[in-house]
Amino acid sequence: LLARAITGELVIPDFPSFMADITEIYESLLPDRRGQVADYIPQLKRVAPDQFAIAICTVDGQRFTIGDFGQSFCVQSVCKPINYCLTLEGHGAEVVHRHVGREPSGLGFNELSVNGNGLPHNPMINSGAIMSCSLIEASLDMADRFDYVADTWRRLSGGSPVGFNNAVYLSERQTADRNFALGYFMREHGAFPAGTNLIETLEFYFQCCSVELDAGALASVASTLANGGVVPLSGDRVFSTGTVQKCLSLMSSCGMYDYSGEFAFTIGLPAKSGVSGALMLVVPQVMGIAIWSPRLDALGNSVRGIEFCKQLVAKYNFHVY
Ligand code: DON
Repeated sequence: LLARAITGELVIPDFPSFMADITEIYESLLPDRRGQVADYIPQLKRVAPDQFAIAICTVDGQRFTIGDFGQSFCVQSVCKPINYCLTLEGHGAEVVHRHVGREPSGLGFNELSVNGNGLPHNPMINSGAIMSCSLIEASLDMADRFDYVADTWRRLSGGSPVGFNNAVYLSERQTADRNFALGYFMREHGAFPAGTNLIETLEFYFQCCSVELDAGALASVASTLANGGVVPLSGDRVFSTGTVQKCLSLMSSCGMYDYSGEFAFTIGLPAKSGVSGALMLVVPQVMGIAIWSPRLDALGNSVRGIEFCKQLVAKYNFHVY
């Protein structure tokens, strides 16, 4: 970072004025109280709804955080792109996509539906994410599988603490009829790899959703995707460039629930949202951004998260096209 600062090669040369613009957007969104917290998982419903954090980490490792950035939250569906990357690293795309498609579903994230080949539509919806879990280190026992995922998050966050919210995990498992139904539906279609233990796979999926970190850590995760798989804060290569390219492609087409097409059209950046109000936004080759604000719109995306993205691209032309 220092060397690039001295030679004037930073990707955002005037970081102070960029921080001032982000602060302005943050302040303009603070009064926005539209939307509701997710209520289908009882523990998520208890989160204070008006919390709001934005964190940025550039590919040079320049960082900025504002708001409730010290507060941890569950990643929920933001685990989906990371788990998809792990399946690609473990098996390669050819094997992975024998079990999951790569086409947007045009349906809600928990819809009981498979594609024409009897597979989940893509890894960014629940069915596809359950499939990803079946493909991650399936030969290990449950404890070692979770350790592997948690350790990956720790590396991606560049050393920030990564936790696990047991109450959310238990609460989610207790209210998971739809995810169980998705699992049985896919098993009926023969979609899983041979030998998959369905119950363990589902429990592993709930555990992955309950990984907990703060906005600064999530920004580091996003910046790693912006940086082709190398963590800017540590220089650690976690994913190959090919893995990241595939993941960002699917985040662009499928990452924002049933708003993905509109998001790709208006914002033009890969992103993934979760029902905790987390939103991970990637500006390829420039930076990763984490936004966390629990109030969700009717489609399940963070209201302030979406507004932030709109204002960001209105100010800076980051749209990839
Ligand atoms: O499976 C569920 O219902 C949640 N744990 C994840 C939901 C979520 O964030 C949906 N996103 N696409």
